[in-house]
Amino acid sequence: MPLTQPTQKVETFTLKNNRGSEATLLAWGATLASFKVQLVSGERREVVLGCDSIEDYQKQEAYLGATVGRYANRIKQATISHLGNALSLTANQGVHQLHGADDFSHREWQGEQLANNKVSFTLFSADGTCGYPGNMQARVDYTLDDDNQLIIDYSASVDKTCPVNLTDHSYFNLNAAADSTIKQHQLYIAGDYYLPVDSEGIPQAGLKSVENTGFDFRQAKTIAKDLGKDDDQKLVGGYDHSFLLQPAVVERGEAVARIVADDQSLAMEVYTDKPAIQLYTGNFLTGTPARSGDSYQAHSGLALETQYLPDSPNRPDWPHKSCWLEPGQAYYTQTRYRVYEPNN
Ligand code: BGC
Repeated sequence: MPLTQPTQKVETFTLKNNRGSEATLLAWGATLASFKVQLVSGERREVVLGCDSIEDYQKQEAYLGATVGRYANRIKQATISHLGNALSLTANQGVHQLHGADDFSHREWQGEQLANNKVSFTLFSADGTCGYPGNMQARVDYTLDDDNQLIIDYSASVDKTCPVNLTDHSYFNLNAAADSTIKQHQLYIAGDYYLPVDSEGIPQAGLKSVENTGFDFRQAKTIAKDLGKDDDQKLVGGYDHSFLLQPAVVERGEAVARIVADDQSLAMEVYTDKPAIQLYTGNFLTGTPARSGDSYQAHSGLALETQYLPDSPNRPDWPHKSCWLEPGQAYYTQTRYRVYEPNN
């Protein structure tokens, strides 16, 4: 449920680089609404899904391009426990919480254009919002550099201990045809392990090796190749899972994921300092209002959400650093999308 009344007067910001590429951001949800990449051929290609009106953004349920917080992904039973204390959050997907119960994605941020190629959004989330402890101040900066990299810098602070997991929920499709799917995109993910979930998207047991499963993207392959084949995919209608990223790859600052258009004309790499990434192949996008005025179909785009593993506030056993932010600590993370022409 939107936390504030939908409004048509949402501020829009345009970023431009010296190569002729352009990104459009909305203050609503600090949303990446469009990313048009200038190609050598003269074509300017849109690489993210989006709607054609603010009203459509406010009614769609796919988190198109939104900034998600305070905690991206699912929290089991909408309950978090820390040092023996349990706290109830707002449930927004059955008994669970998904994407922070929409706090960050469904309201207007304060935006400020800092340069032709940079915008900054800030948000204050009051103590108790969606059940979370403490006041939180969050900031998201988008920068479009001349290497066609869209760089997203997140920072946050809290005045009570609170789990924080901010991510970008853009859906990518690198094909020229706006009505295409991503099923023939090649995908690489630097992940040796994925996290199985139950039919409600909640992890029950631990991580599983990708070896000999459809989750093995260590050698790039098309999405279609093993889409829907594993029992773990059947539970949730396709790929909708987190991968634990190879720590050495993250450490070295190398790309953790790569997608390539059907005809190989365009590619995109994802860089992050986060330990995990959620691959969501848009299994339930059907009916989502599209930029064309029409609507998207299943697999029109795919999301690669850099984050902590799902339900980590309740899972101190997950093999990555704690998602809990303490007062006085600074939360900071960066996600970088680099779009390039492999043949140019
Ligand atoms: C989740 C999906 C969900 C989608 C839209 C993704 O991040 O993993 O399960 O359907 O967001 O809400």
